[in-house]
Amino acid sequence: EGDRKKISIGFSQSVGDDIWRTSMNHAMEVEASLHPEVSLKIYNANRQPKKQIHDIEKFIEDKVDVIIVSPFESDSIVPVIEKAKIKGIPVIVVDRKVNTSNYTAYLGADNIEVGRLAGKHLVSISKGHANVIQIYGDLNTSPGLERSLGFKQIVKQYPGIKVFDIDSDDFGHPKTNYIKLLDSLSNIDYVYAFNDLIAYNAWKIAKDKGVDKKIKFIGVDGLNGPFGGIQYVKDKILEATVLYPTGGSEAIRLALKIVNQEIVPKNNKLNTILIDSLNADIMSNQFDKITIQQSDIEQQQKIIKNQEKKYSTQSNLLRLLISL
Ligand code: FRU
Repeated sequence: EGDRKKISIGFSQSVGDDIWRTSMNHAMEVEASLHPEVSLKIYNANRQPKKQIHDIEKFIEDKVDVIIVSPFESDSIVPVIEKAKIKGIPVIVVDRKVNTSNYTAYLGADNIEVGRLAGKHLVSISKGHANVIQIYGDLNTSPGLERSLGFKQIVKQYPGIKVFDIDSDDFGHPKTNYIKLLDSLSNIDYVYAFNDLIAYNAWKIAKDKGVDKKIKFIGVDGLNGPFGGIQYVKDKILEATVLYPTGGSEAIRLALKIVNQEIVPKNNKLNTILIDSLNADIMSNQFDKITIQQSDIEQQQKIIKNQEKKYSTQSNLLRLLISL
């Protein structure tokens, strides 16, 4: 058992402080723990592009077997990704895109499709007549750009739908012009926010003003659990959310395939789906089941490890006795 080859995976996380990111890290840790030969190291760049570059440099120096990167910026990170490739270390990019094709594989859901799903849902419930506030996360990122692009592709076909664009800050709070818009236009029907956290914060502000009942909120991410989008849909805080899977466990599985010399597709698409009151329960039940299965397997792994330990002390003892 002891001579099974160790596989080291380095993961460079970009934004460390929200539940989508912690849930991605957690999914990776769980998946890694299911493969005893894997050692996973996670560095968190805390939104600092320089720190992220430095973290990846460190993985290159340490000669890890695979690097997984969830990029903060799409440009500044290019040289270090290319450097890893030159040094022969495969790189998997997850979520945000990078402006080079010199990586091994990309993994993530299609954000244009995410935007379109939100747009189609809005068209169908509003019957093509609505005033909408779209609240961006970071417009400089590929998810930000594409979620807006997909959404606008759909709603622009309906002249009865008007969209006002608003920014949010780094921590998911709509900027003050959101409040101004709510004040000046009394007929806002929908808010489409780029993630569930922003959608929740926008709802909270509307609630404090007493206008939350007039507005339907649509978010993105659809995490399971107490502060996730699915729960917000169940609580009727959000009208809907669009699932944007973190890809944590898939990234580890992809890394293992690459290390084992399997040929993998360059673009690995994760599925997305619209979650509203009709399917929120089914979705959370399904996710709960997966979580339970995973923790069962984790439990089993622990038991096996303990047994192995016991067995090896016993056999050492036996060997000792024989040698006497
Ligand atoms: C979390 C997050 C998610 C979003 C993703 C896009 O940091 O904003 O809500 O889906 O990043 O990069």
